[in-house]
Amino acid sequence: MDQNQMKKAVAEAAIAYVPEGSIVGVGTGSTANFFIDALGAMRDRIAGAVASSEASAARLCALGIPLLDLNDVTDMPVYVDGADEVTSQLAMIKGGGGALTREKIVGAVARTFVCIADGSKLVATLGRFPLPVEVIPMARAHVARALEALGGRPVLRAGFKTDNGNVILDVHGLSITDPVALETHIDGITGVVTVGLFARRPADILLLGGPDGVAEHRRPGAGLP
Ligand code: A5P
Repeated sequence: MDQNQMKKAVAEAAIAYVPEGSIVGVGTGSTANFFIDALGAMRDRIAGAVASSEASAARLCALGIPLLDLNDVTDMPVYVDGADEVTSQLAMIKGGGGALTREKIVGAVARTFVCIADGSKLVATLGRFPLPVEVIPMARAHVARALEALGGRPVLRAGFKTDNGNVILDVHGLSITDPVALETHIDGITGVVTVGLFARRPADILLLGGPDGVAEHRRPGAGLP
């Protein structure tokens, strides 16, 4: 299987985690797009979806899947999304597509976070992929200095605005040995909206694509049924 076939395989495998009649949280990116396409085939058997970006909302809409406002949702059994990097502890870097803030919000509401990724995304230590940080535009230089003080090299994502009207700093050169501590630290910098570290609330299940198919990894202590 090539990388795209792995993405499609994990996306299709994630359908098994979607309970009939439920509201589904839907991520953003090329792997999530395969999931949306697979969800289209069961659109009459779900109550609807909450999207983590305008792009995913448009794709869901085009398939006739009812879109819900997160504020009207009290129970979301599952959120399905890709990742840029994921560890065996199921901590992730996300935000390569710039949707990290809404992804973190929708993921926070879901009972179970299912990460779908091809095998290339599994890493021993996070940070080779530049860490996206969404920033209020007027705080860009201040936040960049604070990120440099942490040893990173922040680069403004050129010509890009998030769905929330903010900018992204992609931080190169970090070796993230304590993702929970770094997430907390960067979240505390004034002007930061969201850091693309998903460690305090990691995934619960990882569906990882490899040459021989899809393997399920459950996070120890995730408290899954
Ligand atoms: C979107 O903002 C990201 O968090 C994506 O989930 C991540 O970049 C993975 O994208 P792909 O599935 O396209 O690799």
